[in-house]
Amino acid sequence: MKMKKIMRLLFIAVMIIGCSSSDGGPSGPIVGGPTGGGGNGGGGNGGGSTTEYLKDHANFSIGNIVSAFKLASSSSDNTQMKTILLDEYTSITAENDMKANNMFTGPTSYDWSDGDAIVAYAKANGLRVHGHALAWHNQQPGWFNTFSGTNEEFETAVMDYITAAVAHFAEEKDSNGNSIVASWDVFNEAFDPNASSNVLFTKIDDVVAKCFTAARAGDPNIKLFYNDYNIAGDPNKRNNIINMVNDLVSRSIPIDGIGMQMHLNHDWPTSDLPTAIQDIANTGLLVHVSELDIKANFNSDVSELTAARAQAQADQYQNAAYYYTTIVPTAQQHGITVWGFRDQDSWLYDGNTDWPLLYDNNFDPKPAYDGFVEGLKGNAVN
Ligand code: XIL
Repeated sequence: MKMKKIMRLLFIAVMIIGCSSSDGGPSGPIVGGPTGGGGNGGGGNGGGSTTEYLKDHANFSIGNIVSAFKLASSSSDNTQMKTILLDEYTSITAENDMKANNMFTGPTSYDWSDGDAIVAYAKANGLRVHGHALAWHNQQPGWFNTFSGTNEEFETAVMDYITAAVAHFAEEKDSNGNSIVASWDVFNEAFDPNASSNVLFTKIDDVVAKCFTAARAGDPNIKLFYNDYNIAGDPNKRNNIINMVNDLVSRSIPIDGIGMQMHLNHDWPTSDLPTAIQDIANTGLLVHVSELDIKANFNSDVSELTAARAQAQADQYQNAAYYYTTIVPTAQQHGITVWGFRDQDSWLYDGNTDWPLLYDNNFDPKPAYDGFVEGLKGNAVN
């Protein structure tokens, strides 16, 4: 009798602990993670020693960028990076490895090895992969400019590559039968000033539409995105993009979503940020914040990340997460991907003159991290 009572009490205690640890999201809060960088009014983790990570604050995927090299590395920096990645994030994008200059080695030859390593890591660790990027005027194979065949042959080579890449990376599935590579940026930055003079445009008519059609031929389910920068902050460009996307949709070209890169500044954009997110959501397509980073020193007016500037940057991270969380309908939220871990890892880093990311060079969370968390929780900047 006595023994039974003890067992019952033990059972109840286990149930209580079990329930509370599943409150925070899929993997539950874990003890011992970041405590936040302070500076945002103590957004906080709810007290005690229990820590919640970024992924615990969102109902959509939270991503960051990787390379096959870093994932395979056991240096202390990369080990720390991977710990943070697995604690905090649920999605990864290859910063460079899945771009055409790395995979599209010749008109009919492909090298999937780096992408395969990234997908294998994702599969082993329960992460989603967002593919980036199939067609872009930057980081193209060298042979694009020496190709001596006809325009038709060039078009065939590009479209076959896109179909083959989507098909190849659709093969690895998770336990639910969904592809680890859930989505692709099919076309990147068609409105860049350098795009229209690029071989993709000069040799291939109606190239954006054809790329999406070629991608869909590779797999019927992978989500296909158009991705670009300054969608927030440049209303004319945004309207051009929306018109293009609406035109694609009206022609039954398979497009599922729009990637807003979101390379922002601490003080830009202001009111256009929610307007842009609303405009893009109004297309009814999926919305991905695909490359979030926020310059804290765009005008080079500070020589170090002052407390005031760090707070302004934190507020802008909060804005981005808050507007995304509260404006984009749940069914359209493909996620938010941050473009790097430590400041010094950022593509924008230029010898400690800017500090665009969530973690400082010791991998410690900055006020930016706390701001981002507050936004994900649905709290507006005061
Ligand atoms: C950047 C990478 O971060 C750098 O390492 C690389 O040298 C250049 O490309 N828009 C994009 C990304 O779509 O692919 C770019 O990534 C940043 C701008």
